[in-house]
Amino acid sequence: MGGVLKPASDDGAIFPRDLHFSEADFHAVRSLLYDRTGIALSDAKNHMAYARLAKRVRHQGFRSFADYLALLHSPQGEREWEHFINALTTNLTAFFREGHHFDILRQHARQHAGDEGGYRVWSSAASTGEEPYSILFTLAQSLAGGSYDIVASDIDTNVLAKAAAGVYGADRVASLAPELLRQFFVRGVGGNAGKVKVKASYAQQIRFCRINLVDDSWPQLGLFDVIFCRNVLIYFDKPTQAGIIEHFARYLKPHGLLFLGHSENIQHISQTFVPCGKTAYRLAGG
Ligand SMILES: C[S@@+](CC[C@H](N)C(=O)[O-])C[C@H]1O[C@@H](n2cnc3c(N)ncnc32)[C@H](O)[C@@H]1O
Repeated sequence: MGGVLKPASDDGAIFPRDLHFSEADFHAVRSLLYDRTGIALSDAKNHMAYARLAKRVRHQGFRSFADYLALLHSPQGEREWEHFINALTTNLTAFFREGHHFDILRQHARQHAGDEGGYRVWSSAASTGEEPYSILFTLAQSLAGGSYDIVASDIDTNVLAKAAAGVYGADRVASLAPELLRQFFVRGVGGNAGKVKVKASYAQQIRFCRINLVDDSWPQLGLFDVIFCRNVLIYFDKPTQAGIIEHFARYLKPHGLLFLGHSENIQHISQTFVPCGKTAYRLAGG
């Protein structure tokens, strides 16, 4: 089979595929991913699914996706699900992405910092950590000495491990102000030259945990002042988005805010939230 040329269904391009991946396999991958994560892959994602999963198929010693899918369905395959999901998530992120949310956060935090229980923020699709660390830097600077609590979750255990490690290449932090770099990071030396690491005294203020947003029940996390759910709803269909949004409402304090990504709009799917700024929402009755 090595080097067999097959057309990709997303763009019609020809590229070599050494593993057998039928249209039926793609549909099976798509429906398993949807059931487990809510992520809805379009027809155009055939090549992407192949490219992202091929490593796992080879790692398990298979030459075809059908054998890999059979493993997932077997009792021995239970641990493979985590790799399957990790392989198929899209984790693009950046420090202070969509910076207007951090301006709102700063103001809101100053306003509510003295409330009982301290100021609490949840980054619910935290990816490799740039978002929760940007929250941390903002709160540490605007609430110096005040109490705050940050929870960072994601479905993907690989990105959560990277987030918890807090190590980034110099290119990832190139846009950060030098004072901020000095305050919150240490520079790598020796084998880690060219990298930076979030100082442990700051990093330990974030609790990292795996939460699947499409699960019917989430852990007891308490109530939050702000929930970040940015650039993940786009992967879900409307009913899934609506379910998650209603679930968030039960995790917000009455004055709480919900931040979404730049292309995510919930006005047509939720009466529970009303807009209060660019991709920022508050509870309708709050
Ligand atoms: C594009 S990243 C967004 C990261 C960050 N929020 C930002 O805006 O820069 C989307 C993240 O959502 C996570 N994700 C996808 N499906 C999820 C689910 N069902 N539950 C929790 N996280 C999920 C992915 O693993 C990925 O890390």
